[in-house]
Amino acid sequence: MKRTPLIAGNWKMNGSSIFVEEVVSTFSSFNDQHVDVVIFPPFVYVETMKKLLSNSLVKVGAQNISTFSEGAYTGEISGSMLKECQCDYVVVGHSERRVLFHESDQECLQKVIMAQTHGIIPILCVGESLKEREHEQAFSVIEQQLMAVISDSRVNSQQLMIAYEPVWAIGTGKTATPAMAQDMHHFIRSLLSTHLGQDTAQNTRILYGGSVKSDNASMLLAQKDIDGALVGGASLVIESFTDIIRAASSVKRV
Ligand code: PGA
Repeated sequence: MKRTPLIAGNWKMNGSSIFVEEVVSTFSSFNDQHVDVVIFPPFVYVETMKKLLSNSLVKVGAQNISTFSEGAYTGEISGSMLKECQCDYVVVGHSERRVLFHESDQECLQKVIMAQTHGIIPILCVGESLKEREHEQAFSVIEQQLMAVISDSRVNSQQLMIAYEPVWAIGTGKTATPAMAQDMHHFIRSLLSTHLGQDTAQNTRILYGGSVKSDNASMLLAQKDIDGALVGGASLVIESFTDIIRAASSVKRV
């Protein structure tokens, strides 16, 4: 089993044309084969970044995708539009979308299917709130969010990535300890194994997200079942982001 670590930078609603230029010039000839890198800028920068990074191994993704194919859905962006921009990945079910925009597990499932229909790899985010963790519901919440998607036979489990992002760790500076994160990643992989088979479970990359920084990345990425990171805040600071990528490239799993 060899799962290449993947570092994803989720800019959320941050960035500018100037920042796009800075990032593109940093990564224009990126060719490290030991780590996969994907940047998720806001929609309006996806196509430009994709073109400007055509000589780089860095991939570009979108932060959302519509559940609808086309039509009168003001403000939505369809899978076929993303495909036209050569978008490689899409984040589905980020907790900010679940909490602030009330996205349900059912919508996450529709988005995963829509992405895969267009050949775009979805990264399904799952994560428990602080209250749920305190009430010892973390594992059951993750199971529910995951099962809502993987139990549907229309989902292609070979083209799916998972990101475990405890909501209480996102943007708060609080990170799950490496042991805590590893426990949940192991649990997720065992669910994948039970429901999709051992091979799929071993091949699926499970990323950790929530206040990943250059000083905690190595410890997290060294865990057996942590295959990369979904990085928010630190992806907006080029030096921090490149440090995290370097850590992933040289990591030795425990
Ligand atoms: P953070 O965000 O790294 O700023 O905590 C992670 C995420 O929301 O994906």
